Amino acid sequence: MADFKIAPSILSADFARLGEEVENVLAAGADYVHFDVMDNHYVPNLTIGPMVCKALRNHGIKAPIDVHLMVKPVDRMIGDFIEAGASIITFHPEASEHIDRSLQMIREGGCKSGLVFNPATPLSYLEYVMDKVDMVLLMSVNPGFGGQKFIPATLDKLKQARKLIDQSGYDIRLEVDGGVTVGNIAEIAAAGADTFVAGSAIFNTNDYQATIDKMRAELAA
Ligand code: DX5
Ligand code: ZN
Repeated sequence: MADFKIAPSILSADFARLGEEVENVLAAGADYVHFDVMDNHYVPNLTIGPMVCKALRNHGIKAPIDVHLMVKPVDRMIGDFIEAGASIITFHPEASEHIDRSLQMIREGGCKSGLVFNPATPLSYLEYVMDKVDMVLLMSVNPGFGGQKFIPATLDKLKQARKLIDQSGYDIRLEVDGGVTVGNIAEIAAAGADTFVAGSAIFNTNDYQATIDKMRAELAA
């Protein structure tokens, strides 16, 4: 069975109690902390930056922090998030002037690197940088907000991405982000994803452990 990872998006957490929320979701069995960075420029929303990432580390959070950059330009934020204790840093290729350079900056900073594909962004951006990515993240909603509905065309795109990754022979995680729920996670895994971001589907429930357990049961079925 694939090594599935569940990455709750803290976008749907209670920001007034963020440290506690992150501790609770990790105690409930989450693998990564998915950290959505929005700049009101590349995407129409404004969220959190490196200071908050650093604050989580200072609070004692040890789990991998999966930083999803929805910012333009990206390079300055890459440096700041490396300093702030990020573990994985992904960015949208349209937001970088020099994709290869941005990917190299991430790895040189000791983090795992990745590219994020919006629903209409072609996977061809991967062609010449397959050896420089540790993660491919497919957006299954248009980025900017939590709580949107999963776009079904993502399933075919996941199959294509899975094929490209397997053919490359590199060790690359395939993550999906947006509208993932207990009800569709099995179908998404069957299309090739191994890493699942879920914000509202986890944080809008009362019992995080019960929700994550249900997701894992779906993945094991
Ligand atoms: C959207 C963000 C997602 C979002 C997912 O731009 O990148 O991580 O928070 O939220 P849900 O799971 O509620 O769709
Ligand atoms: Zn995200």
